[in-house]
This record gives sequence, C-alpha cells and structure tokens, in this order.
Amino acid sequence: MKLNNIVVREIFDSRGKPTISVCVEAASGVSACAEIPSGKSRGSREAAVLRPKEAVVAVKKLLPALKEKDFSGIAALDRFLISEDGTPNKSKLGGNTMLGISVAFARILAETRKEELWQTVQREFFPEYLRKRPRVPYIFSNLINGGAHADNNLDIQEYMVVVAPKQPIEKSVEKLIALYKKLGKMLALAVGSPKALRTGDEGGYSLNFQSGFEPLRILNAATRSLRAGKMFSLAIDAAASEFYRHEYYVLEGKGISREALVHVYLDFLKRIPALVSLEDPFDEEDREGFKSLLGRTKGKLIVGDDLTTTNPKEIKRCAEEKLINAVIIKPNQIGTVSEACEAMKVAEKFKLKTIVSHRSGETEDSFIIHLARAGSAYGVKIGAPVRERMSKFNELIRLYS
Ligand code: PGA
Ligand code: ZN
Repeated sequence: MKLNNIVVREIFDSRGKPTISVCVEAASGVSACAEIPSGKSRGSREAAVLRPKEAVVAVKKLLPALKEKDFSGIAALDRFLISEDGTPNKSKLGGNTMLGISVAFARILAETRKEELWQTVQREFFPEYLRKRPRVPYIFSNLINGGAHADNNLDIQEYMVVVAPKQPIEKSVEKLIALYKKLGKMLALAVGSPKALRTGDEGGYSLNFQSGFEPLRILNAATRSLRAGKMFSLAIDAAASEFYRHEYYVLEGKGISREALVHVYLDFLKRIPALVSLEDPFDEEDREGFKSLLGRTKGKLIVGDDLTTTNPKEIKRCAEEKLINAVIIKPNQIGTVSEACEAMKVAEKFKLKTIVSHRSGETEDSFIIHLARAGSAYGVKIGAPVRERMSKFNELIRLYS
C-alpha cells in the first residue's frame, strides 16, 4: 500500500497536556487517524516523545522517502520507520510519532479490507489465534490513586480491583461501576459526600489515608460488601521507581531497605489474601528486589512495567532472570505496533501473562483494546470506570460481547 500524506496535529490529553493526533492518507484515498496517550511515571528506557511541533517537523522530513515506498503490511511500514529513525530510543522521529503512523496505517488496512482493526493486527502478527474463541481478559481497574497521579499522601501509585471474566463483559463493567460507587460512598464518610471526593489522573479516588495499607483494607471491604463471590480480587501498582532514593525506598516518610520493602509486600499479601498482583514493586534497576519477591510468592503476579517498557529484549531478559511472571504492554513505551506485538509474543513464549495498558494521560483512542483482542491478552488495564476512561470500557464491551 502506498501512502500520500501524513498530518500531525497538536491535541490535548485527559490532563490537558499537549499530545499528538496523526492522520495518514493512502494513495487509494482511504485515511485514518490515531491519538497518542502520555505517561507521567515513565520508565527511563521508554521510547522518546517528541513535542507536537517537533513531530510535525520530523514527519515533513520523512514524507519524501515514505511516499516512494509500497508497504506490504504493518511490519514493513514499521521496519521502514525504525530504519529512518536509526536511533536506539527513537529520538529522531519520536516513539509517539512512529506509533501514530503505525496505528493509523493499521486502521487504513482494516478499513480497506472491511474488517475490524483487531482482525488486521491478528492476521499479521497472531495467526495462531485466528480461529480460536477470544479469551476474555481480566479487567484491572484503578480505583484509588496515589503517587505521581494524585495530590494525596499515598506513595503507592495504584490500588486496583481485578474483575475476573466469569460473566458477560457488560455485566463485569456494570458490577465494576457499582463497586466504584460503593467505594465512593464508603470513602465519602471522611469528607461528607461522594461529590466532595477528589479523583486522580486515572479517575480513582484521591484522598489522604492513615497508611499505605489502608486503601487495600477498604477496597477489600467494598468488594466483599457486594457479595460478588470470586469475581473481584485486588492489585497494586507501586511504581516504586518514584519513591526510590539511592538504595532506599521512602515509604510514609521513612527510608527503608529493599529487604524491608519485601516484607511490607509479604505482610500485605498475608493480611489480604485477595491481593493477587504487584506491579513494579521495586525500582526499575533493582533486579534483586524483583527476584527476591518472585521467589517468595506463590500464585501471585509480579508484574513488570517501568522494568520492561514493552521492550521484547528486556522482557526476555527479565523472564530468563526470573524477575517477573507478568508484564504490562503499553504500545507507546516502544513506539510501533509490530514491536508491541513482538513484546506480547515474547511474553507468551516465556509464559508471562500479558496486561495491555492505557497511560495516565489518555485520549479517546481505543487501540489498546484491539491489541488485547488480537494478541489474546490475559488482562487489560484501563483506570476507573468514569470520564474519558469509559471509551475503553465501551470498546471492550463492543469487541467481547
Ligand atoms: P503512567 O503510569 O501512564 O503515568 O506512566 C501508569 C503506570 O505506571 O502503570
Ligand atoms: Zn505501572
């Protein structure tokens, strides 16, 4: 497929910060766009992000060479973008610009073939799932926000509920909304009314708590009060790189060692058996921490995010070193559709569970849900069931019901 034009525009994410929309036009006249989200607690190995004006300039320079080519598929386009960029962290074209072109191109292919976007991605990268029934994903929904995403005293960034795929997807979402409201009522006792509750970047409640354990206790009580059986379990994303300071983790104002932090998590797990998943429990360079926790927990997910940054090589290395048994997949951490799919394939090969994830600064673009469906993800991570996050939940219902 030959391409005629690419237009990059400055748009704004859910935090009101500038990000980009990328629209691609094929020679056939078919065109499509993609909107790119942005992270705040980013891993240091993530693909570079160009500012909107820089992305416009980069695309202008890229266009003459791009128009010469005829791309057989998404991987061919991505290979061209990677070679034109030529840097280890995509700093010339920007991971955000490249992903925008890559996703918009995939949408043009889907439109041309009159199929869903997930089918186009699956046909090219995951043919092994083509004739299989879709695996409905677990939903990781962040109901209490802390860390870099909130203006409160929580060091741990996310307290999530995990919804098991035990009922039709729309019922899962309905129950999750009921839980979110119930939790709001419980937390409102401290501030007067649910309307007086503040929320963080991902729509979860944001207020001060007595300790980092308290949100888990309350979330656990809220899930139990709904009498939903084993439908709900709990998860955290510590995003621990954010509270790591030279050999020490600063939790609740005190500097503690790696070993002490291991014990904090083991204590959480002992007190709340429903806690099933710990994401980025240590700094992204603290491989000893990950290894130690994985070795001392059975049947729990130890998830890499800042540690792995959706990079196939890093995921392989972490799996071989036995640091994690699950991994977050964020397409904009790596910067092309092909590499995000490759990351999922590598994870699958090493028996790591894959959780396809949004970013804290989001747009209305629901590409991640299509990626989850195409690559048969174990889970999707999409924030609280409110505001701008609803477009992902609604796409989930459309693709899985
Ligand atoms: P980010 O954080 O999107 O702000 O980087 C999300 C996460 O750590 O999972
Ligand atoms: Zn994370």
